[in-house]
Amino acid sequence: MIKVSPSILSADFVNLERDIRALAPAGADYVHIDVMDGEFVPNITIGIPVIAAIRKITWLPLDVHLMIDRPIRYVDDFCKAGADILTIHLEADTPENTRRALEKIRANGVKAALSIKPKTPAEAVVPYLPLCSLILVMTVEPGFGGQSFMEDMMPKVRAIRGWIEKDSLDCELEVDGGVNETTARICTAAGADVLVAGSAYFKAPDKAAFVRAVKKTM
Ligand code: DX5
Ligand code: ZN
Repeated sequence: MIKVSPSILSADFVNLERDIRALAPAGADYVHIDVMDGEFVPNITIGIPVIAAIRKITWLPLDVHLMIDRPIRYVDDFCKAGADILTIHLEADTPENTRRALEKIRANGVKAALSIKPKTPAEAVVPYLPLCSLILVMTVEPGFGGQSFMEDMMPKVRAIRGWIEKDSLDCELEVDGGVNETTARICTAAGADVLVAGSAYFKAPDKAAFVRAVKKTM
């Protein structure tokens, strides 16, 4: 079953409550929230108080994507704010701190997840797989919505799908960046089962039809 996680980076922030309340009726499975610190990526977006506010208006799981340096400093705060899935970047700290941050997330009863940027090889996630409920393969350079899909990331998706299946891991495989009705098909064929869509979802005139179309790409 394919899941769709609309990225609210492309929502209308003046009408954020309206846009978030419309997600569940449109068939969305998660709410993807992009947190950027102006250091790990050259952009600054949403922080902890906004996530706590969003938590109050939706029962959908909050899929929080931290694009911040040394996320171990803040993972407890994001868990308390209401994240259901908390993703950190492998490139954002040392291997030891990455492992500790994932363990901290799990100790909060939150699903721990790890993301890799386009230049990071798939093999880099292997030591962390047993700690992760989700792996996120970036299909654009993180930082901004509306960029073009990088199809050359699909071998990484296929490799990680293979490792998940081999060990029967309870781990979802998400892609993020440039996903639309056409590229969704490429992602699911490669083995992704959670699709983040920002601009394509929010630009769609009929959001329920968009979600249905993307889920039918298997
Ligand atoms: C980019 C973010 C994405 C972004 C996706 O750094 O992680 O979640 O919002 O936007 P689209 O779907 O427009 O590429
Ligand atoms: Zn994201």
